[in-house]
Amino acid sequence: MLQLLVEASGFAAALLFILGLKRMASPATALRGIVLAGVGMLVAVVASFGYLADVGEAARPHRLANLGLALLALALGIGWAWRSGRRVAVTAMPQMVALYNGMGGGAAAAVAAVELTGTHADSPLQLGVTMLGALIGAVSLAGSLVAWAKLDGRMKSAWRFRGQGALNAVVLLLTLVLGALAVFGPGAMAAWCAVLFFAGALAFGVLMTLPIGGADMPVVISLYNAFTGLAVGLEGYALHNPALMIAGMVVGSAGTLLTLLMAKAMNRSLTNVLFSRFGEGAAAAQGEIAGSMKSADAADAAVTMRYAGSVIIVPGYGLAVAQAQAKLYEFVKLLQAAGVDVKFAIHPVAGRMPGHMNVLLAEAGVPYDLIFDMDDINDSFASTDVALVIGANDVVNPAARTDKASPIYGMPILNVDRAHQAYVIKRGQGKGYAGVENLLFYGDHCSMVYGDALAVLNAMVQAIKDLPA
Ligand code: TAP
Repeated sequence: MLQLLVEASGFAAALLFILGLKRMASPATALRGIVLAGVGMLVAVVASFGYLADVGEAARPHRLANLGLALLALALGIGWAWRSGRRVAVTAMPQMVALYNGMGGGAAAAVAAVELTGTHADSPLQLGVTMLGALIGAVSLAGSLVAWAKLDGRMKSAWRFRGQGALNAVVLLLTLVLGALAVFGPGAMAAWCAVLFFAGALAFGVLMTLPIGGADMPVVISLYNAFTGLAVGLEGYALHNPALMIAGMVVGSAGTLLTLLMAKAMNRSLTNVLFSRFGEGAAAAQGEIAGSMKSADAADAAVTMRYAGSVIIVPGYGLAVAQAQAKLYEFVKLLQAAGVDVKFAIHPVAGRMPGHMNVLLAEAGVPYDLIFDMDDINDSFASTDVALVIGANDVVNPAARTDKASPIYGMPILNVDRAHQAYVIKRGQGKGYAGVENLLFYGDHCSMVYGDALAVLNAMVQAIKDLPA
């Protein structure tokens, strides 16, 4: 009976994960989707304790002894996640996602380590799956920690040295050989090989992530998300736990799709991201830039938009830093009331995490039908009176089209430079995430409105309100 209940809970959890994921596809239903998936996770965790009863008499004391440790780990995990989840700033979300990815990968690797001590992995296939999950999980743990350090500004963006590719290949090969010896080697030697195998996998995760940086980080984070899902799914197979298997595979396939979409948004293949020198940051040489930057007053920019026929707004990372989304929507409502056609254009890697700008705008209550993805709106810039860029930089840099030396060369950008007039709100001469000058800012039809986005938008709102009715 208990076994039936455990199996039914696994099925229910899997169903909740899939329904939750489906709802996350639209901002309108995303919150309910997250709650559904969370309930699924709760069911899966509770059901996992049912496995305690699902073992022979001999194994039960061993598992019961671990019950206290499992509960302690759960309490620590819940406490930490609750605290960090409540306190994290929206701009620091990518770092948190990288950390959580790493924890998932590490957990899968830890499960594999326990399996290797010989309790359940009975067939060669099961052992092989366990080792593969261990390898992917450990790589994901170490790689995600390096990604976290880079995103958090604790580490240089990209570390490169001569012979790096060859070193990585040798470390991976050695790790695989050690993995095989850990499975097939004799007793004591196998144990040492297992320890060295984990060390090799962790080292490979670090080495693989060191050279990646700059604008490639979103793709890498998403790749480790997929790795973690895959590792968890493989360990679910090794543990005969269907809920774990399905949850892992759902995360693995969703993460893989997201990785491919992100790579496509950057106009890059995954092999390029992992093995080329793209995303190197500020190192690329930039030639003389024609033109000069012109500044404009916030009130003048607001009045120009008030009397325009159409305005496209491009939000970027700076909008999240300033937390100016509500003020922005107040400004948009004033323009709409004056009969201006206003739309938002979202670049797939604007901000610091997938969907960052959508979340920000949804938080301010911007209706979804005003928000357009890059491919759906990019042709409209040429026929738009004013493009307003708020705290965005790399995603509107025309150097991505023309400058082969630029670290963002090849990335599709929003065609702000093709609008009749562009205003850019930013605090000063700060560069974007990729660390390069933006050719847009030097264009004839572009004016800079300097200041914190919230302060500038406050002034813009006031300027419109001060106009005679
Ligand atoms: P960025 O290129 O990072 O530029 C943001 C700009 O906002 C900066 O130039 C900064 O200039 C300005 N800014 C910062 N704080 C501000 C404030 N309080 N008020 C006004 N402006 C402010 O942003 P983006 O265009 O959104 O591009 C995203 C970049 O991040 C891409 O290179 C992307 O590859 C990378 N990335 C994305 C992700 C994901 S998944 N979305 C993850 C990691 C990395 P000032 O300092 O002069 O104000």
